[in-house]
Amino acid sequence: MSSGSQRNPTLSVEVPLGDRSYPIKIGTQQIDSFSQTILATLPDLSHALVIADTAVEDPWAKQLTDSLTACQTEGGKPVRVSTLSVPSGETSKSVSQLSEIWQWMLDCSTDRSSVLIAVGGGVIGDLAGFAAASFTRGIRFIQVPTTLLAMVDSSVGGKTGINLPTSKNMVGAFWQPSLVLIDTDVLSTLPERAYISGLAEVIKYGVIDDADFFDWLEANATKLVAREDEAVRHAIAESCRSKSRVVGEDERETSGRRAILNYGHTFAHAIEATAGYGELLHGEAVAIGMQMAANMAVDLGMCDASLLSRQNDLLLACGLPTTFAEADVDAMLPVMQRDKKVSHGKLRFILPERIGSVGLVGDIAPDAVIRAIESCR
Ligand code: GLY
Repeated sequence: MSSGSQRNPTLSVEVPLGDRSYPIKIGTQQIDSFSQTILATLPDLSHALVIADTAVEDPWAKQLTDSLTACQTEGGKPVRVSTLSVPSGETSKSVSQLSEIWQWMLDCSTDRSSVLIAVGGGVIGDLAGFAAASFTRGIRFIQVPTTLLAMVDSSVGGKTGINLPTSKNMVGAFWQPSLVLIDTDVLSTLPERAYISGLAEVIKYGVIDDADFFDWLEANATKLVAREDEAVRHAIAESCRSKSRVVGEDERETSGRRAILNYGHTFAHAIEATAGYGELLHGEAVAIGMQMAANMAVDLGMCDASLLSRQNDLLLACGLPTTFAEADVDAMLPVMQRDKKVSHGKLRFILPERIGSVGLVGDIAPDAVIRAIESCR
């Protein structure tokens, strides 16, 4: 489904969750009209709280705030807009930052008719989303993701939360937004490495869920790397479509279906935890992790070697790494054994069967894990 001019159509993807369903709108140069979309979705809105990453405060959050301030409520009064900027980076997903946000919400006379709007990447979306989920037991929430990674992953599906000092994403809630608004124009201020890193999650959807999309990615990798608007909008929409399908089937990760979104992530988390802070971006670790998982699947006779080489070629065409010479097997294995997907001490992995289809495979012997890691060094 699309609307807008032929040259620059806005794509819309529905996340199908019954009375918690919501649309993801994907356009280019649309941020000034987001306030109209917000009011059309929440016509009773009188108070908006905008939490923005300091890195995107000017111009993106400011543009949104200015256009919201110019809007009127149902009663003809101006919409009240409160703004807060939060430092970039994972350390903001903390109890102390959340507590500051709660106090600010209280000071701004927030109530259940307010809406909280998160403008930023995954950190801001997770943090602001959890503030929305918890303040007065839940207020309405809108995601305006500004990184490719957040556009195709964290802003969709309702996972919100913060870190504890030793455990990532340990406290949180499933809290679905009312709307996700994506303007690909904001990617123009995203550093190259962060943009390319986001492409790893895009490629992931092709491997786990959609063979036609994988074919399309192979044919359009150059356009994506060059950030051509139409290609970028299409890639985001198809990624969101895949994620929406999966989330629609298993919103709270109870059936195991949602776990397929973690393809490559068990290896990636172990790489990130052992490589030294800041060595690799998340998407870079996911790219290497996907190669380790595909190597393991080939090694176990689960899939054809052509999958491994097609995935390798596509990752490289998108400028992503597929090997990591410093991968430390001895350090990575214990991290993987503590992973959330370990069941009764048995290592479990999401492994590909063919392009477009993966399965959860349990009881993997440590030797196979070691071979998979070593194959990508
Ligand atoms: N990023 C994985 C999920 O949303 O379930």
